[in-house]
Amino acid sequence: MPFFKKNEKAAAVSEALPVHIGIIMDGNGRWAKKRGLPRKAGHSAGAKTFRKITRYCSDIGIKYLTVYAFSTENWKRPEDEVNSLMNLFKPYLEEALADFKDDSIVVKFIGDKAPFSDDLKKLMIENEKSSADRDGMVLNIAMNYGSRDEIVRAVKNISSDVKNGRLSENEIDEQLVSDYLYTAGQPDPDLIIRPSGEYRISNFLLWQSAYTEFVIMNKLWPDFEKSDLDEAIQIYAGRNRRYGGV
Ligand code: IPE
Ligand code: IPE
Ligand code: MG
Repeated sequence: MPFFKKNEKAAAVSEALPVHIGIIMDGNGRWAKKRGLPRKAGHSAGAKTFRKITRYCSDIGIKYLTVYAFSTENWKRPEDEVNSLMNLFKPYLEEALADFKDDSIVVKFIGDKAPFSDDLKKLMIENEKSSADRDGMVLNIAMNYGSRDEIVRAVKNISSDVKNGRLSENEIDEQLVSDYLYTAGQPDPDLIIRPSGEYRISNFLLWQSAYTEFVIMNKLWPDFEKSDLDEAIQIYAGRNRRYGGV
């Protein structure tokens, strides 16, 4: 039984439904290793899970979903693994993102697009442009994303705007810093889920997750089911968020 029925509006359900969910899609390599398969088979399986869980989040009324697909540190992996990931992204961005059209999903990429091939960059920009006017869930795909890198960029942009007179120093506050991040204009994540049992944030949404609830699950990402998402939401719903108060 799904936790929330298809197409239920967030407002109509309960406060228990997070507005913004982040997912660290981890465990593809271990999933493949367990089966004696190459790591890239794990990434293909993980990509399918991404498609399934994204549509499910949209169906149950999640407003924002941010998925961590490739970090600024993942370039350190062996060349053939990085190449297989890049080769996987292209058909994925073509097929899966065409799919998301039916669900009116707005697609955004967070992270620095510069190091990707021209083909990939073009696909990312096309997807952002063609989905911008949709009215469904906002899907942020974090690709070459690192939160420290994001914060450094924000600091540089703020400082150049102060220098060129577009901004005065006393306008700098928490809201302004948020507005210089890739996630500008979006609410902070309520819930971050990390499958694969790792208890760390790995440079994901550091600023934005100041008061996010974390749910760590043991399932490896390619095995992650809709029912695991329901379970994470249920755990979240049972938390008492205090934001430093009592
Ligand atoms: C996540 O799975 C995918 C990426 C980081 C690109 P991993 O590849 O990190 O899988 P494990 O953690 O080695 O199992
Ligand atoms: C985080 O997973 C990045 C993504 C899932 C894209 P990693 O597998 O890279 O993180 P660590 O190395 O275990 O911290
Ligand atoms: Mg990993």
